Amino acid sequence: MTKLRLTKNIKSLAVTLGVITIFSCNTNTESKSVSGSKSENPYQEKVDSIIDLMTLDEKLGQLNLPATGPITTGASKSTDVVKKIEDGLIGGLFNIKDHKNIYEVQKIAVEKSRLGIPLIFGMDVIHGFKTTFPIPLGLSSSWDMEMIEKTAQVAATEASANGINWTFSPMVDVSRDPRWGRISEGNGEDPYLGSQIARAMVNGYQQNDLAANNTIMSCVKHFALYGAPEAGRDYNTVDMSRIRMYNEYLPPYKAAVEEGVGSVMASFNEIDGVPATGNKWLLTDLLRDNWGFDGFVVSDYTGIYEMRAHGMGDGVDVTSLALKAGLDMDMAGDAPGIDAAFIKNLKTALDEGKISITDIDTAVKRILTAKYQLGLFDDPYKYCDENRANTEVATKENKDFARKVAAESMVLLKNENQTLPIKKSSTIALVGPLANTAVNMAGTWSVSTDQEKSNTVLDGLKTVVGDKGTVLYAKGSNVDYDLELEKRGTMFGKDIPRDGRSDQELLDEALSIANKSDVIVAAIGEAAEYSGESSSRTNLEIPQVQKDLLNALLKTGKPVVLVLFTGRPLVLVEENNNVPAILNVWFPGSEAGLAISDVLFGDVNPSGKLTSTFPMNVGQVPIFYNHKNTGRPLGNDQGNFEKFKSNYLDVRNEPLYPFGYGLSYTTFDYSNLKLDKKSINLDGEISVSVDVTNSGNYDGKEVVQLYIRDLVGTVTRPVKELKGFQKVEIKKGETKTVTFNISVEDLKFYNYDLDFVAEPGTFQVFVGTDSNTKMISEFELTEK
Ligand code: BGC
Repeated sequence: MTKLRLTKNIKSLAVTLGVITIFSCNTNTESKSVSGSKSENPYQEKVDSIIDLMTLDEKLGQLNLPATGPITTGASKSTDVVKKIEDGLIGGLFNIKDHKNIYEVQKIAVEKSRLGIPLIFGMDVIHGFKTTFPIPLGLSSSWDMEMIEKTAQVAATEASANGINWTFSPMVDVSRDPRWGRISEGNGEDPYLGSQIARAMVNGYQQNDLAANNTIMSCVKHFALYGAPEAGRDYNTVDMSRIRMYNEYLPPYKAAVEEGVGSVMASFNEIDGVPATGNKWLLTDLLRDNWGFDGFVVSDYTGIYEMRAHGMGDGVDVTSLALKAGLDMDMAGDAPGIDAAFIKNLKTALDEGKISITDIDTAVKRILTAKYQLGLFDDPYKYCDENRANTEVATKENKDFARKVAAESMVLLKNENQTLPIKKSSTIALVGPLANTAVNMAGTWSVSTDQEKSNTVLDGLKTVVGDKGTVLYAKGSNVDYDLELEKRGTMFGKDIPRDGRSDQELLDEALSIANKSDVIVAAIGEAAEYSGESSSRTNLEIPQVQKDLLNALLKTGKPVVLVLFTGRPLVLVEENNNVPAILNVWFPGSEAGLAISDVLFGDVNPSGKLTSTFPMNVGQVPIFYNHKNTGRPLGNDQGNFEKFKSNYLDVRNEPLYPFGYGLSYTTFDYSNLKLDKKSINLDGEISVSVDVTNSGNYDGKEVVQLYIRDLVGTVTRPVKELKGFQKVEIKKGETKTVTFNISVEDLKFYNYDLDFVAEPGTFQVFVGTDSNTKMISEFELTEK
C-alpha cells in the first residue's frame, strides 16, 4: 500500500530510479547502530543513488532548516517557503503546529519538488507535547529514571501523531550558575546524574526504533558547554580547561551519543576561542572520531550567521568553517537579513575552493540517512495521523501520569512543626500572583502545549478540597514592582494581567482573606519566562513586591506555606528564616494545580531532591557540591571564618540548600553502612550497603545517594562525586537495606593527558540523604 502511494506521489523520483532502489520498505532498521556507533550505514546505497541525481541547489536545500513557525527565538523568519520547497531548497522545517499543516507542507515537498524528497519536521518538544511535564530542572529533581524516560516516550507519542518526527531535546548542559536562565532547561549541576537523564530521555524519544511511527528522533543539545557562560549571561563566552570539560561538562552529551541519539545541536558559545558551530575539534575529532557519532549535526538558531559577530569572517568564511567543522544543517539561516547561510554562501565557497563537493555530499548523506531512519521515504505522511492525533494526545492516562510526575518532582525545602500536610477540612487562603494563572504553569519552552488548559493552583485546591473545606483566593500582588521586568518575564502568551488596583488594595484584599483562614498558601516566585532562553538574572531573590506580600502574610500569625514557582535556584535566606513551610514546585506542567494539591494535602508525600545547589547569595555563584578542596580549605567543620583560608569575610562557604537536598513528611534514618571488602583491584567491584529506616509517620520515598572521594590523584579530585542513587519506597516503621555496587569504571576520571583512568589509592564512600552527608567509610583500590 505504502509503496503504491509513494509511487503515485513521488512521481519523478520513482520514475527515475524505481521505487525499490530508493524507498526503504524495511521500517525496522536498527537506528541505534547507525547513529550511536560507527557502523555500516544500511541506507548507504540508497542515499548515494539519490545524491547522484541531485543538483547543487538541491543538495544545499537538504542542509537548509528555515524558521517558519510561530516560535522564533531570534529575528530570522523565512519568506517564500512554499516556492522554496517546490524548488527543493528546503530540507526540513521546525515548530510548525498541527499535523494538518504539516501534511500540507509535506505534500508540497513530495509532490511538487523535482525529486520528491520528504521534509523532516522538528519542534522544541522539551518537557512534553500537549501533556506537559515539569520543566527539565524540575523533572530531574524526581531522580526517577524510569519515569523520566516515560515522559519522553509520552511526548514522542503525542508529537509523532501531530506530524513531528524530530525534537530538539534533551538539553543536557551541565550548569552551576543559577543566573543563567536556561538552567531551567537542563538537569542541574551533576555530570553523573545528567548522564543518566540524558540516556533516559534519548531512549524515551527514540525507543531504539526510529522507524516506528510513535517514536521521534532526539537531538541532544547544546553541544557543548553552553551551561557555563561567563557571569551567567546567556550566549556569553565560555572558557574552560579540557580537564574540566572532560570530567564535568561533556559526560551527558557523550552518554546521549552512546545511547544512539540521532542528532546533535551545536551550541552558540565558543570553545577554546572557536564557536562550537565552526569548531572542528568539537564536531568532528571529539564527536565523530572519538565518540563514534554517526548522526547529523544541526546548528542552533542562526548559529552559523552569528559566527560573523563572533568575528570569524564573512558569510563565505563562516559557512565554510561550519561545514568543514562537521556541521550539517543550518537552522534559521535562510531568512531576509541573515547574510551568512549554507543556502546562500556555500556555492561561492565551493567556487573559491574553500570547501569541496565531498564536504557538501557528506552533510547531505547524513540528513538523507536520518530521513531513511525515520521511515520518511517509506511513508512521508506517517507522522500525520488524524486518528492518533484524536486518540493518543492529552489523554486521561497521559494527564494522570503528568500529575504524578509533577508531584514527584516537587522539593520540600522546609517544613517546621509539620505545617504540611494541610487538612482538607481547613479554611485556606490562597494568595499570590502565581495562584491563578494557567498560562504560567507549564513554564518555559512549552511550544506545543495549550497553555490556557493547564490547571491552576486555585483549580487544583478547589477540586481536591471539594466540599470538605473552603478555599478563599486573592491575587495579593503583581509579579514585580517593575512593570518592564514583569513584561519580560511573562512573554510568549504567559501574561499575568495587572488588574488596575494599587499594590495596597491588592495587599488589603489578601490580608482580609488571610485573617479568615486557618492556613495561608502563598503561590509566589518567578513567572514562567523569568527563566529560559535569554532570561538571565543577577538578582536571584523572589521579586520584592511578592516578598513584601509574603512578609505581610507572615505578620498575620497564621501558618504560611510558600508554594514556590521557579525555574532556577533562588536566594531564599529570608524565606527560609521566616516561613514555616516551603514547597518548591518549579513549573509543574499541565497538571500543576492538581499535583500541587496532592502534595499540600499529603495524598502524595514529597520526595524530590535538588539537582542544583541553592546559594546563600549571588556572590557565592558558581557554587556546586563537587568542587575541589583547594590548598587552603577551612580547618573547621563548622564553616567558621578563618583568615588566609579559602572562604569569604561576609558569608559562609556552605549553600542554603545543598545538591541532593529535599525533605519528606516522614523522616529517614541511616545506619549500618557496610562495605563487603576493604580493598579491590583494578578488575574488582565493591558492594556498599546501608539500612534506611522510615522513622516518621508517613509512608514515603527516599533518594538514597552514594558519593565517593578519591583522596589522592595525579590531578586534584573533587571533594565528593555522585556515583550512585536509588529511589526507594519505604513504609512507615519499615527498614530497607539499600545496596550499591561500585566498579572500577565508577572510579575513573580523565587525567592530565585526558586518559580515562582509575588510580590506585584510598577512596572514601559517603552515603546519605543529600550531598552534605557525613556518613562515611573507605576502601583501597590496589594495582593487583
Ligand atoms: C535555542 C534552541 C532551540 C532553537 C529552536 C534556539 O534559540 O537555543 O534550544 O532548540 O532555538 O527553537
